[in-house]
Amino acid sequence: MYTTQDEQRIYNLAKALLNTGDSNAEEAILQLREVINYSDWKYYIHSEPVLSDFEYDTLFKKLQHLEEQYPEHVTGDSPTQRVAKGLSEKFPSVSHLVPMLSLDNTYNADDLRDWDRRCKELAGTDDIEYCAEPKYDGASISLIYENGQLVRGATRGDGVMGEEVTVNIRQIRSIPLSTAFTKDNVTQIEIRGEVVINKDVFAEYNTQRIAEGLSPLANPRNAASGTLRILDPKEVGKRKLSAILYHISYYAQPDGSAVPEALHTHYDSLNWLYQLGFPTPVKEMKRFNSIDHVIAFCEAFEARRDDLPYEVDGLVIKVNSFAMQDKMGMTTHHPRWAVAYKFKARQATSKLLRVEFQVGRTGSVTPVAKIEPVPIGGVTVSSISLFNEDVVREKDLHIGDTVLVERAGDVIPYIVKPLAELRNGTEEKIIFPTHCPVCNEELEKPEEEAVWRCINISCPAQVVERIIHFASKDAMDIRSMGDSNVRKFYELDLLKNIPGIYTINWDEVTKLGGFGEKSVTNLKAAIDNSKQQPLNRVIFGLGIRHVGETMAKTLANAVEHIRDLYNYSEEQLLALDDVGPKVAASVLHFFHTPENRHMIDLLEAAGVNLINQKRNTQQGGGELEGKSFLFTGTLSRFKRSEAEAMVEAKGGMLLSGVSSKLNYLVVGEDAGSKLEKAKKLGNVAILTEDEFLTLING
Ligand code: IVH
Repeated sequence: MYTTQDEQRIYNLAKALLNTGDSNAEEAILQLREVINYSDWKYYIHSEPVLSDFEYDTLFKKLQHLEEQYPEHVTGDSPTQRVAKGLSEKFPSVSHLVPMLSLDNTYNADDLRDWDRRCKELAGTDDIEYCAEPKYDGASISLIYENGQLVRGATRGDGVMGEEVTVNIRQIRSIPLSTAFTKDNVTQIEIRGEVVINKDVFAEYNTQRIAEGLSPLANPRNAASGTLRILDPKEVGKRKLSAILYHISYYAQPDGSAVPEALHTHYDSLNWLYQLGFPTPVKEMKRFNSIDHVIAFCEAFEARRDDLPYEVDGLVIKVNSFAMQDKMGMTTHHPRWAVAYKFKARQATSKLLRVEFQVGRTGSVTPVAKIEPVPIGGVTVSSISLFNEDVVREKDLHIGDTVLVERAGDVIPYIVKPLAELRNGTEEKIIFPTHCPVCNEELEKPEEEAVWRCINISCPAQVVERIIHFASKDAMDIRSMGDSNVRKFYELDLLKNIPGIYTINWDEVTKLGGFGEKSVTNLKAAIDNSKQQPLNRVIFGLGIRHVGETMAKTLANAVEHIRDLYNYSEEQLLALDDVGPKVAASVLHFFHTPENRHMIDLLEAAGVNLINQKRNTQQGGGELEGKSFLFTGTLSRFKRSEAEAMVEAKGGMLLSGVSSKLNYLVVGEDAGSKLEKAKKLGNVAILTEDEFLTLING
């Protein structure tokens, strides 16, 4: 699509456009579009950003501004026109140019060998080349381009009629709005593909939904197809959909034109689309001359299925030659020249035995389904969160129901639905408790919240969860003070509250079975070391509602001593970074509660650090002042907490996620999505552990 010279030229153009004022408006508009389209292509198809966020935004705004001044130069394929104005009406039904068929399924090597035999009979030859590529688990779409312009995007619907969702398809930045088909004499083309949501985007989205008291979506597939039907295209744009295109179902050429060379095989056609700027599976697809090689590829691919950033539910094997495909034809249901090889199901059915109600750290009462243990994708599932009462009601779950359970990749197990047709009348309603199952306090359901809460802050369930949270890795990092020890100590009356960690009677502990001298020494040392943890960890560990790790840093950075927060007004809190009314109210409530102030006194008496050491000792000026760091992956040269302490000692800042504010990402082994994201952003310096040490040591 772009030659190396093109890339150089566009890059220089970008720099020139950033530095100069507008000369000729029309020319500047064309140049800005070229730069933005190129930059989108590099970012969305190759994951290689060429401009920083700031540069990109500057150029985008420049283009918007010029187009506002010269509306006569606005065209439908301008990148500014992806963002639709207003809401869509209901989506109109449209008929597909060619019916969108399904695929026949195979589940094992024998099935594939049978299919290979049938292919050979139909093709009349044993010499067949196959092409294998991932089977993306999303929502299928059809795109039509006329004279190089995207004119229609539609969902599959029933395969004959779909919904026209062009405005939403235009929000997917990897899908070109226009492209140079015409240079190959193709005047109209229909391309099929899949809209998917990457697993990390999906997980982030669900975390947000749960935080807002909404039920999470079952899997990325449902999220993708639901998003395509949202009536507000702006909202669709925010959901970060991706697309992958895998089939040309139709194309038209002027009479007498020769078929482009690339349109003789499936493999070449996807490469051709890729060259034209489309996201196609060129990196994953492979060609084979025998079904045995296809089978080996399928088995190897299934083994690394979880490493992919998106969900796949199998592979699709296609006969590569279009002439052969035409000869083999289709049934009314599926093409005979393609087949799906389905990976092991991640759905299973089981019986809902009972529902338990668990009380969390903040008093939230969560229904948890206990099901007959069932293996799904290599893990035995017996316990599944039902999140809140609304989810149970929406799904109409009953005790004794046969339920369909799904565990998609890294996604937590989820009850998709009860199989109502299998009920025999003995199923029982799920009754929600009116009182806390642990302390018997009457439960409350604050307005606008989906969860019931126990508001007794001395409720043993909450106390135990709070102690576990305080000692956890991301808070005070007290090794060995995890779930089971905290519960044991609590039940034996050796530990009753957070400050109690620092006054445990070790003679009593030693008398307990299972605690050797060494483990007691280690535990004591870990507790002692935690007294020096920085203030942000203490604040995070206190478990104030809506105060996560990042917010805890913001609060810690704002004060010299934790008690300064006692005097903070709502306005002062709201003035801090990212603090909204919910956080402010929660912080105010926490620090005005006498029990919490008493807890802080006890922590201080125990020798726990409650001052912001950075503010008190450094007063700025550290060598890393103003620089932000994040560590990811498995570190082998130092412990994460040590490295973080080194950064803070030199006045640097720690961030909890990759954003444009991040300066350095230090990567250990098996770094995953954070590294990918940092690479995409482009302005984050990526350091190995050794490079980090060199930087730290000046
Ligand atoms: S080819 C006529 N290739 O799987 C060509 N389909 O279960 C038919 N799918 O409806 C489609 N990845 O939505 C093809 N690489 C891939 C695919 C793929 C996912 C979907 C497609 C199809 C469904 C059948």
